Amino acid sequence: MRSSSVLQSPIWLFQIAGTAKSLRKNPTLANAWLNTHGLHRKRVQLAAAMADRRRQVLARSIPAEDRAQFDENGFIWTEDFLPESQFSALKAEVLNGTFSAREMRQGHTVTRMIPTPPKMLNANPALAQSLRDHRALNQIRSASSRGGRPTSFLQTVLADPSIAGRDPQTDLHTDTFHSTAKAWLFLRDVGEDDGPVCYVPGSHKLTSERLNWQHNCALSAMNDPRAHQASGSFRIRGSELQALGLPPAKRLVVKANTLLVADTFGFHGRAQSEKSTVRIELRWHMRRNPFLPWTGLDVKALPGLKERELAAFLKVGDMLEKRFGVRHIWRDVGAVRPESPANI
Ligand SMILES: [Fe+2]
Repeated sequence: MRSSSVLQSPIWLFQIAGTAKSLRKNPTLANAWLNTHGLHRKRVQLAAAMADRRRQVLARSIPAEDRAQFDENGFIWTEDFLPESQFSALKAEVLNGTFSAREMRQGHTVTRMIPTPPKMLNANPALAQSLRDHRALNQIRSASSRGGRPTSFLQTVLADPSIAGRDPQTDLHTDTFHSTAKAWLFLRDVGEDDGPVCYVPGSHKLTSERLNWQHNCALSAMNDPRAHQASGSFRIRGSELQALGLPPAKRLVVKANTLLVADTFGFHGRAQSEKSTVRIELRWHMRRNPFLPWTGLDVKALPGLKERELAAFLKVGDMLEKRFGVRHIWRDVGAVRPESPANI
């Protein structure tokens, strides 16, 4: 064992009790003996049991029909989410504004992320009101099974299939081994050919078939030619769904002003499109330790960090690139309009 591995071993062990998912980065999670004897299986089982317990508390904060929708499908879909006047004001602020942005390229798709720190929210009241909407936050907390503050930002997805390179997000996958939430408030309609979000209804449930599938993925991930397997975002082929008792993925075609909140332990992806597409949305993301019994106590909700954590994370990435040459995938592209063409 190398000396750096000896030093890192306690960290890898400690990470088992948290959100760590990458088998490539954490050799303990990739250990064949441990996984054969149920390490990954136990993490998945325990995380799901804890999520069930926490959700019993959190689900009281959302209406019964939303709860029923979530329990059945793994997502909550609300059309006409914001009042019309607020939605118009939000669109005017976002679509006519120029904001400091980051971009990341995955094959033929560029994802543009616009952080929304307090200074920007103060200047854009409809955006602030929408990102802080309590109904949205409660749905996100319930889907992720954790309380606290989701990370929020503006997102544009620009896909151009004429450019070479596959978009790995078009493969159906689970984000990680436990419940975690992503949410989208769409600013424009997303049609069948506009690269909609896809989701396999009911795939958020931990069945015995799913648990066996997770176990087998953990055992084969390090030798799988699909790079994302070893990162812990396990991919599933359409042909495997039936054996798990699951239906095919559904393309979630939406009208503008639809809020979609999903547990991304469920299988999901971005639909392939034959044409160039631009999707623009408000986005939330919530992933916290799945093994803790309580719902609150989120450091991201602390004064000084609240709504600033994304900007801080990006600055750390910039610093690592500058000081240590670790390439930052989120490239600073300066101030841009949210729907402008990709810069990278
Ligand atoms: Fe994902």
